[in-house]
Amino acid sequence: MIRVLVLGAGAGGGFPQWNSNSEACRRARSGDPRALPATQASVGVSADGDRWFLINAAPDLREQINRQPQLHPTEGLRSSPIAGIILTNGDVDAVAGLLHLRERTPFKIYAHPRIFGVLDANPIFKVLAPDMVTRETLSTGATTALRGPDGADSGLRLTPFAVPGKVALYMEDASRSGNFGTQEGDTIGLEITREGAPGRVVFIANCAAVDAAVRSRCAGADLLFFDGTLWRNDEMVTRGEGVKTGQRMGHLSMAGPDGSMAALADLDIGRRVFIHINNTNPALLSDSPERAELEAAGWQVAEDGMEIAVS
Ligand code: MLT
Ligand code: MN
Repeated sequence: MIRVLVLGAGAGGGFPQWNSNSEACRRARSGDPRALPATQASVGVSADGDRWFLINAAPDLREQINRQPQLHPTEGLRSSPIAGIILTNGDVDAVAGLLHLRERTPFKIYAHPRIFGVLDANPIFKVLAPDMVTRETLSTGATTALRGPDGADSGLRLTPFAVPGKVALYMEDASRSGNFGTQEGDTIGLEITREGAPGRVVFIANCAAVDAAVRSRCAGADLLFFDGTLWRNDEMVTRGEGVKTGQRMGHLSMAGPDGSMAALADLDIGRRVFIHINNTNPALLSDSPERAELEAAGWQVAEDGMEIAVS
């Protein structure tokens, strides 16, 4: 069995977002049970329930740890069940939470060299003492054993793969108008299995297009987390809440003939769950027609605190 814990279901900014006065954000602030707040996207995986590997370190990580007993220290005066952090991209909502883990307890960071390059380009991350926070470099297509900082094999196996996407917003090179300087490794998807046990988890929270490679990774997954940023590509523009389309941000939307639901509809997937859901996406509201439509298509929306056992 692989234990999966959703720490945060929201996209960058979370839900409600600090500067949004939309009806949906006002509903979330008022405690409406049909507009549940969502912190920024992160998922924990564990083989034994004692050592956890977190996919991305959201800016909300401190709050996420405090409300999840699985992540509280149990040994000695200083310890943590968090054995490692796996980074799928360099966006603020994926890396800023590393700064919450600076108080000298060992863990590993698993990332592609492109993302270690982003950390190295931002000197604030030097606050993670290298004698405590060690690095494991990921290459796409290669399977790695997830090990804690003591080198002990957790039993989990990680295979990262390339996903169509975009370099982190603050690393965009405006002179490269086609792809803003995006290179392979800027956005990866993850496949997680457990040695000697059934069950395969696929995590893709930033995805600009479903190509043949993405489809083949998703096919047959027992649990798929997929990029649920927007319902429609132009929703931020038409709602007057932003100037960018989903495609400009490197995200494929859920709905319509070109959306992710259509692109993945014919695949055999055990459980399909949208994550990294933007505050403008009506699918966040459990009483919306959009939520009903995605559920009818066999999808779910992730919620903070959701626990899933995969076997
Ligand atoms: C994204 O998912 O597109 C990013 O989180 C945007 C951002 O960094 O604000
Ligand atoms: Mn994001």
